[in-house]
Amino acid sequence: MNLNDLQAEPRAEARPSGLEGVVVADTKLSHVDGERGELVIAGARAEVLAESAEFETVAEQLLALAGAPVVGLRAALARARAAAYATVAELSACLTLPDAMDALLAATARASSGRDALSVLGALPVYVAAGERLRRGQRTIAPDPTLRHAQDFLHMLGLSADSARARALDAYLVTVSDHSLNASTFAARVVASTGSDVVASIAAALGALKGPLHGGAPGPVLDMLDATRGGDPRAWLEAELRAGRRIMGMGHRIYRVRDPRAFVFERALARLERELSAEPGTGSARILERLNHARRVEQAAETLLAERHPGRPLRANVEFYTALLLEALAIPRTLFTATFAIGRCAGWLAHIEEQRRTGRLIRPAARYIGSLPA
Ligand code: COA
Repeated sequence: MNLNDLQAEPRAEARPSGLEGVVVADTKLSHVDGERGELVIAGARAEVLAESAEFETVAEQLLALAGAPVVGLRAALARARAAAYATVAELSACLTLPDAMDALLAATARASSGRDALSVLGALPVYVAAGERLRRGQRTIAPDPTLRHAQDFLHMLGLSADSARARALDAYLVTVSDHSLNASTFAARVVASTGSDVVASIAAALGALKGPLHGGAPGPVLDMLDATRGGDPRAWLEAELRAGRRIMGMGHRIYRVRDPRAFVFERALARLERELSAEPGTGSARILERLNHARRVEQAAETLLAERHPGRPLRANVEFYTALLLEALAIPRTLFTATFAIGRCAGWLAHIEEQRRTGRLIRPAARYIGSLPA
């Protein structure tokens, strides 16, 4: 940067460091009301979508709203999963990286066959499932074109993929498919605004999602539930705060009330428990036990955080019950963030399209507080 550039930077006061409240895009894709705890995705309430819609339908609606309609998305995604599976051997060095998000990022960035939006959307569950099985020394499982996206992911992981579990995962993917201008979506839009391609934009989003303050929290939420099992959660939580750590799954930049997605996942878990309880040995008792314990920990965390931050409501966020829902489906905790990415990818792609159509580079300014040469 030369002195001329410095002169061009505005002299205005710096904005709050996290850009809170700064509007940088118009979107038709989703709306978050943080005061009332409402989330609208593709024009419908998240809780209604989670009860009734398939992931494919919501992805189709998001892309159509962004001006990139796709006819027959379900079949197109099945074809994209098959095409991605054909590249698993060539991507195995990426897919077997020890961290599932590193593997997903590396494989996505490297894939030569996944240059358009649908290829990327179809590839993510294939990469996550194949990578997990290869890391465990197991044979990969080919996608099944007759299955829906959610069900096929469970199938490719080698997990039970009956209709109750597939429906629960569908509810999860639909609910996380978009969430206004969260950090990963913003990252995707910034990269798209430079004229870069879909793969580069999605790689940026994956990098942002990996962080523990964004999509990396649900694994640690389960660690917290394990650590507080059979004991007093308050004592454990106090020790965490004393050590300067945040309580994972609590607090949100936008919501001042309990995250509406926490309610959706609690309901999905209760329904899964009911459906599985008809068949003995399917783990329904464990779901109930975990759910009850999670509610005790949530209550203790909420009380403690309210004492410490009386003016700043810090309530359960999406990640708290994500952890329980994905655990109930037997998805390993090391894959929670990558599973989040499979759902959020629909929103990322729609936002990338929406951003491109603005034709405008996102380039904020910084206030220079260093010294100038004499
Ligand atoms: N545990 C403990 N303290 C928390 C907290 C948490 N989960 N969330 C916020 N705080 C505290 C902050 O340390 C800060 O304290 P200070 O004023 O003494 O510095 C205060 O509450 C305000 O927090 P702030 O950093 O302004 O909130 P934010 O809007 O920037 O943060 C999150 C939002 C999500 C990053 C934050 O709540 C968090 O880190 N949560 C845990 C991680 C998580 O669950 N992420 C998933 C998000 S969906």
